[in-house]
Parts: sequence; structure tokens; C-alpha cells
Amino acid sequence: MESDVSPQTAAARLRQLSPLRPRLAILLGSGFHHVLSALRVDKKIHFTKIPGFPVPTINGHAGELVFGRLGATPVLVLSGRAHFYEGHSMEQVIFPIRTLAAFGIRDLLLTNAAGGINPDFRRGDFMVVTDHINLMGANPLRGPAVSGLNRFVDLTDTYDKGLRALLFRAGKKCHLRLHRGIYLAVSGPSYETPAEIRAFARLGADAVGMSTVPEALAARQYGLNVAAMSCITNPAAGMGKGPLSHAEVLKTAKKVEFLAVELLKNFTNSYGKTDEAWRRQTETTGR
Ligand code: HPA
Repeated sequence: MESDVSPQTAAARLRQLSPLRPRLAILLGSGFHHVLSALRVDKKIHFTKIPGFPVPTINGHAGELVFGRLGATPVLVLSGRAHFYEGHSMEQVIFPIRTLAAFGIRDLLLTNAAGGINPDFRRGDFMVVTDHINLMGANPLRGPAVSGLNRFVDLTDTYDKGLRALLFRAGKKCHLRLHRGIYLAVSGPSYETPAEIRAFARLGADAVGMSTVPEALAARQYGLNVAAMSCITNPAAGMGKGPLSHAEVLKTAKKVEFLAVELLKNFTNSYGKTDEAWRRQTETTGR
């Protein structure tokens, strides 16, 4: 069901909730929810209480929006997301991102769980997304033109180099070697066949997952700076020993959740200390 609530209405609700006006938002996907435990919470609200927000139905996704501070940095956290595979329309999937843009968020970090395609990747590794391949079979920006928004969004630099540099710096601080790579998005909910994974490897994909791309596209349409990070929870189909299961994804995510917390804490600390000018400068020097 489509909502006729506007993102501006939802953003107004958020402004009433807390006096904090973070510039940074973090969307916590599978493997990253534990980050909430490190957050100094100012206010929390369930997605059901925000006009127009879709409600995630999947196990492990709470569906909460939290205002707080991670380290010293004010941040708006979305814990959980609505997936396309749950039956939500793309419009519903990206509604929270449109709300963040209307609220005044400038920088967005998207996180997810993904299957590893790159043979160098191990269970529990983290990958900074450098680019994506959209094989979801749908584009969230399809539909009537939205006044004031560019319809033909340029995706040359979807994932911001300055924010990426901050993620690598955060990894170094907690002695974690982060991979970099290309995230390929499928609609799911079934996992892939081994033949599909071999095909995706040939296309240049390093990891595969069922989210993130719609949100990244929506955010870029509003000119937000986007970064994305994957927790590699399993070898993709045909690359590991056994069959794939959601239980395996959650089990790996649980094992490395403390690392995810450290990583994001370091990220927000550097973010808080680093002004935009520095980040823009690293656009030419960042990895
Ligand atoms: N495939 C698609 N999505 C995923 C996977 C996978 O192997 N692991 C976690 N999310």
C-alpha cells in the first residue's frame, strides 16, 4: 500500500521528538544492530509511530529510529530497514531516506550483511563499498518526476570518497583490515544459485546482498553523501561448504558485532573531528 504522507511530514515529526540536529545518519542492517548498545540515546521512536514509515517484518530488524551520540558525535540511527523482498514497494523502501533528506541529514552511512564472492573474503570480514551493480530488477527512482529533484541521477561517484577514507581510518584504529569492493544487489528473498554467483563474479562483484542500493540511489537523488559497509556473513552460494541459511547470516553477525561497534564508534569520532573541507580534500587523495 502506498502512503500519501510526505517525507516533510515525517521529518517534522522527528524535529518535534528531539532538539538534536545531526548531520550524519547511520542505517543499521544485519550485523550492525549492536551499535545501538554504544549509543548515548536522547530519544527513540518505533517506525510504526513515524508517519509514512514502512515497518520491517524480518527477524533481527527492530525498526527503530534513535537520536543519540556515538562517542561525542550526534547521530540519527535507523535500526532496521524495510526490504523489497518483504513485499514493500520501492517507494516504501526509500521513504525513510527521503525523510532523512527532508530532516536535513547531509551524510549517510548504510550497512548490511552480504555474501562474499571475492575468494579473499572470510566470514566476519567487513567491506567498504566502492560501487554497486543493481540487479534488483527495479529502480527506486522510477515513477512520476518529483518537482525539484533530478530524475536522471548521476551515479559516477555514488559512494563518497571522503566518507570512505573515514571508514578506512576507523578500521585502522581498531586494527581491522577492511576490504573494499563492489556490492551487487539482488531482490531476494531466495539466496542465489552457484551459477548466478559465478556469473556475478565475472561481472566484477565482490559481495552480494538484498538491500542498500535503493537507499543509496534515493540518497544521491537528494545530494546526500553516501557510504556503505558490508559485513560478510557467509561465502556466497557454491563458494562455501554447506547450504546457506539466514541462521548462518545471523550467527556470523553476532560473532563480529563487537567489531562493528568499534568500527562505527571510530568512524563517528573521526567524522565529528573532521570538517567537510578536509573530506572534500580527500576526495582526490582517499582510497
Ligand atoms: N546473498 C544475498 N544476500 C545475503 C547473503 C547472500 O549470500 N548473505 C547475507 N545477505
